[in-house]
Amino acid sequence: MKLHDREPPRVTLANQPTRGHWMRTAPSGVRIWLKRDDHTGSELMGNKVRKLEYLMAEAQAAQATHVITCGGEQSNHARATAFAAVQLGMQPHLVLRCDDPASPPAATGNILLDQLVGATITWITRPAWKQRNALMAAEADKLRALGHRPYIVPEGGSNALGSWGYIRAMRELADDLADIASPAHPVTVVYACGSGGTGAGLVMGAKLFGLAARGIRVAGVNVCDDRRYFVDGIMAICADAEARWQLGANVGEDDIDIVDGHVGLGYARSRPEELATIGEVCRTDGIVFDPVYTGKAFHGVVTELARDPRRFGAAVAFVHTGGMFGLFA
Ligand SMILES: Cc1ncc(COP(=O)(O)O)c(C=O)c1O
Repeated sequence: MKLHDREPPRVTLANQPTRGHWMRTAPSGVRIWLKRDDHTGSELMGNKVRKLEYLMAEAQAAQATHVITCGGEQSNHARATAFAAVQLGMQPHLVLRCDDPASPPAATGNILLDQLVGATITWITRPAWKQRNALMAAEADKLRALGHRPYIVPEGGSNALGSWGYIRAMRELADDLADIASPAHPVTVVYACGSGGTGAGLVMGAKLFGLAARGIRVAGVNVCDDRRYFVDGIMAICADAEARWQLGANVGEDDIDIVDGHVGLGYARSRPEELATIGEVCRTDGIVFDPVYTGKAFHGVVTELARDPRRFGAAVAFVHTGGMFGLFA
């Protein structure tokens, strides 16, 4: 299915459309419909795969031999990019952040998978993370000097091109929610926000397909940084997309709902109450959320609903963006 006249080329990597269903868990009596984007694949599970369909198509068009990306030590994005690269015949190189590059973390969770798939890894310190784009460019220069053709995927796959993955997902959600949402029964699509690409795609999709008029809203629970950081980040991705494809989505700050206040101890650090929510959902629904993204964001939803059961309208459509391998770290 062609999504839009200006949709860029994509390769098929994800199992989609993903299915959805009502959860048994209904915090403060509010029903939650779950979009199973954790089922986009196995090695390639989660939200990153949708973005990679467009990014990898560009890498292929550039006849790339190597794909470089970056992330935290347990980055789901880095692991998914490494697998996508190998599946498409390219060699992955990852720039990963850790406490001490002289003594890199043990091969658990995503790192084990990165190693299994043959990704080469450059470990960098947390302070060096600020220079991640320059460090990736330096790795690309080294590869070019050896006669290779590297392609760089930005942090989280979160740029204008990657955001098409969630414009497409929003099209699916519009169909998913056709019999659920209406102006009299508004539903909010809630997602975990980590670098803004998923949010940018969902917000642009909602605008392009006129979903507000059908009672469908979008809100992100940030798992790091703060509201201002993500409003600016999402606005920047949407502006880039406009400059590149003239979509006419006209995203303004008022379209971006970031539900701040649930970062807790910080990125990838869990509070006991967040872990308790993950355990409770697993026992009630048989569904596993990860501690870094989906579990933290879902705990944010539970907390918001306890304060105001109408915060998200009549029901929530929570996007399960994957991340399960992080649980094994
Ligand atoms: C499982 C999971 N959920 C959500 C996110 C956040 O998505 P985004 O980076 O597009 O904000 C990520 C990655 O950052 C992730 O790995």
